[in-house]
Amino acid sequence: MNRKLKLGVLGSGSGSNMQSIQDAIEAGTLDAEIAVVITDVPDAGILARAARHNLPGLWIDHAPFKTKLEGKAEDEVIRVLREYGVDTVVLAGYMRVVKPGLLNAFPLRVLNIHPALLPAFPGLHGWTQALEYGAKVAGCTVHFVDAGVDSGPIILQAAVPVLDDDTPETLHARIQVEEHKIYPEAIRLLAADRLEVRGRRVFVKQ
Ligand code: GRF
Repeated sequence: MNRKLKLGVLGSGSGSNMQSIQDAIEAGTLDAEIAVVITDVPDAGILARAARHNLPGLWIDHAPFKTKLEGKAEDEVIRVLREYGVDTVVLAGYMRVVKPGLLNAFPLRVLNIHPALLPAFPGLHGWTQALEYGAKVAGCTVHFVDAGVDSGPIILQAAVPVLDDDTPETLHARIQVEEHKIYPEAIRLLAADRLEVRGRRVFVKQ
């Protein structure tokens, strides 16, 4: 049985993944609603995209909470997510490692998209890492978030070939085409209650 998910999207960049999720919602192929978009970067493109779709968008300034106190900024993120009735947190180009407080507030309800075929190339700029390593296949991964960096149980992956004349930009662009397919699809599976997590493995129920 489908249940309408209330998504809270956290992003620091252009927001093209948020856009792909909103497009699927508007096309009627994803039974969900983006309840709020939160960024840590005041002029992030994701805010402009949110505004174009009349979605509430907020910048939460992490600067006053530097270093040791940064958990306080995340407390504010959790408070806002709750205020908007969010049940599922979608990290979409969010350039921060989320802390246990947020994970405990939304157990098995925090998803991330990573621009590499995990467990290869976690961390920053996965596509550049793949290119520089000489990998012949790159791709992207949607996974549940755990306390590590890009280390939670994998929901979906998509592969793209690395071409001889690829630059970081061309490879990233090709990976993003796949990201925009598998992120809405993973959320669709979650909304349909078709994901079963057993240890590290995620099974898609028929
Ligand atoms: C994507 O490549 C995603 O995999 C990574 O950050 C990028 C965000 O892009 N986590 P966008 O802001 O969704 O366009």
